[in-house]
Amino acid sequence: MWKGRFSKATADLVQQYGESISYDWRLYPHDIAGSIAHARAQVKARILTEDEFFRIEAGLREIEKEIATGDFEFSIEREDIHMNIEAALTEKIGAAGAKLHTARSRNDQVATDTRLYCRSAIDDLLDLLSGLQGALLNRAERYAGTVLPGYTHLQRGQPVTVGHHLLAYVEMMARDKDRLVDARKRVNISPLGSGALAGSTINLDREAIARELGFDSVTTNSMDAISDRDYIAELLFDFALIGAHLSRLSEDLILWCSSEFGFATLSDAHTTGSSLMPQKKNPDVCELTRGKTGRLYGNLTAILTAIKGLPLTYNRDLQEDKEPLFDSIDTLTLALKVNSEMISDMKINEDTCQAAASDPLLLATDLADWLVKQGVPFRSAHELVGKAVAAAVTSGTPLDQLDLTLVDPAFTAEASAVFDLKTALAARTNPGAPSVENVKAQIKRWQKS
Ligand code: ARG
Repeated sequence: MWKGRFSKATADLVQQYGESISYDWRLYPHDIAGSIAHARAQVKARILTEDEFFRIEAGLREIEKEIATGDFEFSIEREDIHMNIEAALTEKIGAAGAKLHTARSRNDQVATDTRLYCRSAIDDLLDLLSGLQGALLNRAERYAGTVLPGYTHLQRGQPVTVGHHLLAYVEMMARDKDRLVDARKRVNISPLGSGALAGSTINLDREAIARELGFDSVTTNSMDAISDRDYIAELLFDFALIGAHLSRLSEDLILWCSSEFGFATLSDAHTTGSSLMPQKKNPDVCELTRGKTGRLYGNLTAILTAIKGLPLTYNRDLQEDKEPLFDSIDTLTLALKVNSEMISDMKINEDTCQAAASDPLLLATDLADWLVKQGVPFRSAHELVGKAVAAAVTSGTPLDQLDLTLVDPAFTAEASAVFDLKTALAARTNPGAPSVENVKAQIKRWQKS
């Protein structure tokens, strides 16, 4: 493509080092759409005749089909997807193909393709996130009233329900979706027409190109447009945070599936056995999701590091944006699919949950609240209940069977009514609290959204 200026061919190692076709081939539908929109603008600018445009369009459509069916031969001498397609087009249709690159550079071309690719990935990921929310909602609905200990510091804290616990993840994923929708606004802007860095002396209708490609607007500074990778960094952050959420969910499920907790059982289809220990049923999907989150973080670090020292405008370092981006999208796509499937099939062992939640210590805070309602200041109530708990622990008596009146006269016989788990849960009616009624209302709200 640049033979005019050079007298030696590119060294093999340089070709190997610099090629991106092995991974950027996946930009091809966007590269072709971008080229067709660009060619249409060239007709308006009288660079191409109508006839040349039709030949370019038909040639590009043919190439698109060949790539889709695996009949296209990519070559690393042609370095990247842009040059592979352009060279194949010129081979196919001759001179008209050689005009296509007028008023365009691979710099604005790659920026355009990558933005289009990101836009479509965002739309797919939004659907997949909704799918996972749906799976969680389905389980939350099924187990809306199943009581479960809620933990802080991985120590039993207060009673909640499985429904409430799972809805916490539905909330996280709603924020994840919001972030993607917001990022999409910054992605969906057309850099095409920015050229190598300083636009072009040939007037192209950038707005028309943008409209054809479904962009909301056009970039307003050519230097920024071709060197901006903020939208990739932003997306990789959003993906990393989705990974964090999936990883926390995974960790909860790993605990729930252990013999120690025993709260949940995953289906055989979504667990694996051990080659040695016949009894094992391992939550590998959860562990892989937790592990793959490391890759998502790594990809974010890679792009942030790649852009930090770059002078304006394009530098070849920017080619390093694509592998982390593609890897994060591929990783998340599969993670969301497999987790949705696994969660839809998850069984909760209600008796085990109920037994764990029946630990009367979970209602120690409720006992303090009872004292508060009798007029005892909370700090004193906390101390009195603390004394009762210590007495229960040292005497080996469950808190609900201890004679509280012996601990302090502030307790009366009525205090023991606090230890009814159903009543305790039903009393948690503040917005956001886990009464079964609240949880059911939340499920309805999510199902409608
Ligand atoms: N493959 C290149 C990339 O991904 C395309 C842009 C190349 N531009 C250049 N001036 N060498 O960044």
